[in-house]
Amino acid sequence: MNNNTVTEKKKRIFSAIQPSGTITLGNYIGALQNWVKLQDDHECIYAVADLHAITVRQDPKAFRQNILNAYALFLACGVDTEKSIFFIQSHVHTHAELAWILNCYTQFGELSRMTQFKDKSAKHADNVNAGLFTYPSLMAADILLYQADLVPIGADQKQHLELTRNIAERFNGIYGNTFRVPEGYIPQVGARVMSLQDPKKKMSKSDENVNAWVGITDSPETIMKKFKRAVTDSEARVCVGEGKDGINNLIGIMSAVTGKTNDEITAEFEGKGYGDFKTKVGEAVVEKLRPIRESFEKYVADKAYLEEQYRKGAEIAEKISIRTLDKAKKKIGYLPR
Ligand code: TRP
Repeated sequence: MNNNTVTEKKKRIFSAIQPSGTITLGNYIGALQNWVKLQDDHECIYAVADLHAITVRQDPKAFRQNILNAYALFLACGVDTEKSIFFIQSHVHTHAELAWILNCYTQFGELSRMTQFKDKSAKHADNVNAGLFTYPSLMAADILLYQADLVPIGADQKQHLELTRNIAERFNGIYGNTFRVPEGYIPQVGARVMSLQDPKKKMSKSDENVNAWVGITDSPETIMKKFKRAVTDSEARVCVGEGKDGINNLIGIMSAVTGKTNDEITAEFEGKGYGDFKTKVGEAVVEKLRPIRESFEKYVADKAYLEEQYRKGAEIAEKISIRTLDKAKKKIGYLPR
């Protein structure tokens, strides 16, 4: 007998995005587009992180709709429930439960050093709740429950992943091997899409200036308007360069939505002005997002289908994650029920 029948085990991926009402072009290029690609040669588990979302106050009616919209939007982007496990975090009780346990293996000092906590608590000074502080242990629970090998994340989540690794290693150090220590996976292309108005800042839907970001369900007219207004520089040459943050960003976006390299884009726009370039980037984005918007509209109109899918996802996620949770509880010394 030979080994030909033994196929190599696929690496397991876990990632999640908060339901925030709008998903920006930055979320799409930086996260979702990669989630979709990874499905072919990895075992992917994805979630709508609605437990994390209540670290800021949510209006119940809007929140419910945002969660459902996020689920539909990710399907529209190509998250495929035949290939991947895709669920809503609050539907799987193991997350909150392991998060509590991990809280007891995470130091106050560690959480205090998280730059996202510092930024967010400065921004929401009137609601610096304990959840905001322990947010990273919930994120660690999300990841460790599934024994993930790889975690696709944006650069802003690197510190949280580092903490996840530390928590896992600490727990494993005390009790023996319990959690797989995950690696971060920061995609090469389009890791960071910047604001169209202030290209030194990350594109964010919480930006006061609505022209700074593009929502993936924005109308073609809105998208074109925002790209035409995008901030550039005074050099008037379409090429990547220092001090050309606006153009660098637009080239990055163009590359991410068309698959062309920076050099190909530079060659294509040789001798052309920024006005022309901005229009072409806008058009490329419109074409990329059109099928997503259309498919999103179909999914949100079919609530029964969405329910069927997220239930199926939650059932599978629960089964997998309970195994890890039980293992951790047993190691700590909890009595089985
Ligand atoms: N904190 C992440 C964000 O805001 C979302 C998230 C929650 C996540 N749980 C996760 C990302 C687990 C990766 C893995 O972007």
